[in-house]
Amino acid sequence: MKKALALTLAAAMALSLAACGGSDTGSSSTASTGTSEAATTENTEATASGDVANKDKPLVWFNRQPSNSSTGELDMNALTFNDNTYYVGFDANQGAELQGQMVLDYIQKNIDTIDRNGDGIIGYVLAIGDIGHNDSIARTRGVRSALGTGVEVDGAIDSAPVGTNTDGTATSVKDGSLEVNGKTYIVRELASQEMKNSAGATWDAATAGNAIGTWSASFGDSIDVVVSNNDGMGMSMFNAWSKAECVPTFGYDANTDAVAAIAEGYGGTISQHADVQAYLTLRVLRNALDGVDIDTGIGTPDDAGNVLTDDVYKYVESERSYYALNVAVTAENYQDFTDSTKVYEPVSNQLDATAHPTKKVWLDIYNSADNFLGSTYQPLLQKYDDLLNLEVEYIAGDGQTEANITNRLSNPSQYDAFAINMVKTDNGASYTALLSQ
Ligand code: BGC
Ligand code: CA
Repeated sequence: MKKALALTLAAAMALSLAACGGSDTGSSSTASTGTSEAATTENTEATASGDVANKDKPLVWFNRQPSNSSTGELDMNALTFNDNTYYVGFDANQGAELQGQMVLDYIQKNIDTIDRNGDGIIGYVLAIGDIGHNDSIARTRGVRSALGTGVEVDGAIDSAPVGTNTDGTATSVKDGSLEVNGKTYIVRELASQEMKNSAGATWDAATAGNAIGTWSASFGDSIDVVVSNNDGMGMSMFNAWSKAECVPTFGYDANTDAVAAIAEGYGGTISQHADVQAYLTLRVLRNALDGVDIDTGIGTPDDAGNVLTDDVYKYVESERSYYALNVAVTAENYQDFTDSTKVYEPVSNQLDATAHPTKKVWLDIYNSADNFLGSTYQPLLQKYDDLLNLEVEYIAGDGQTEANITNRLSNPSQYDAFAINMVKTDNGASYTALLSQ
């Protein structure tokens, strides 16, 4: 009896090790910090090319949709600031559902080895990015919904962090139940926390690394799965703990380093099609500056042959918003996603400089230390700005102080168009006020 158990355990360990470190790609990429380069400024004396009033210049919000950070309600004043105002992001609900499903699929497929301490409870911990960011909220809900741990409040799943919940008594979540191969397991959110550092920066990778240290020290063998609202925090937890422990860890963004880590046991991630978003961010500005139909080079081919198909984005007119669609990236398909900074081929054609002369764009990144924006989004923008003949000045924020960014917009007359990534989604008016002066 004892011997059989030992053998089963040994077999299970061999299996999980194979699943964990067994891939043969041998590739290990260095984690990207995503800092410093955001400060790049393309130096030039040029000023804006026409005499369009600042309030009438094209404006695109991206990555952080103008909205109320408590209710999620869209800020339509900011989104309709002028006729050439848009938002570019991704479909948060579709992506959240995919992330939850990806985690659930993994658990079901690996049911024989997933419950590390054999107590019949599949325990997971969750790193939350920003409790006031609708994308972060959607991801927390998506995971809880798929795993059966969500509790409804006013018709939506509660997205509040639980702190620790090793005994299953928290009220923002409940124990889920999962039946696989005739056996019923409990699924429990053992702990979750907003990863905000003491200075106030959210989605903070270092805070997530510390949290997994604290959690694993007190209930490490109950943690069977690690889930994160993004790869920055996910990779920090993976490197700090779960990689060595062979605990599958799931993130979001499909940053290059996270995709490479799938070969070393990272469970999976979601591509939010940053290659399409970065294109759209600059493309809507280009179209407005050219005075052409907004669909040019988007749903309708442009003169260089750039065009997108509707399997990668959707446009919601009533929200003035373009949303890229998401794709799950797992051990089965990660080879197709190894470079997150590669331009999307169908929109990689250079525009002619005579028909589309150089224009100046002011663009900020809310936090120069943000992994996704620094290691994936900005490098993509820097490739598309060349293809679209836009001279972009990249402004780097610190992730905390809106005024540090708005201060850099003191002379909007020098630019033809604006691309804005806010620190707080409520703060649209801080920017539009400057353009209205
Ligand atoms: C990304 C996060 C990032 C955040 C910044 C999200 O879409 O998934 O990784 O920190 O944007 O606003
Ligand atoms: Ca367990």
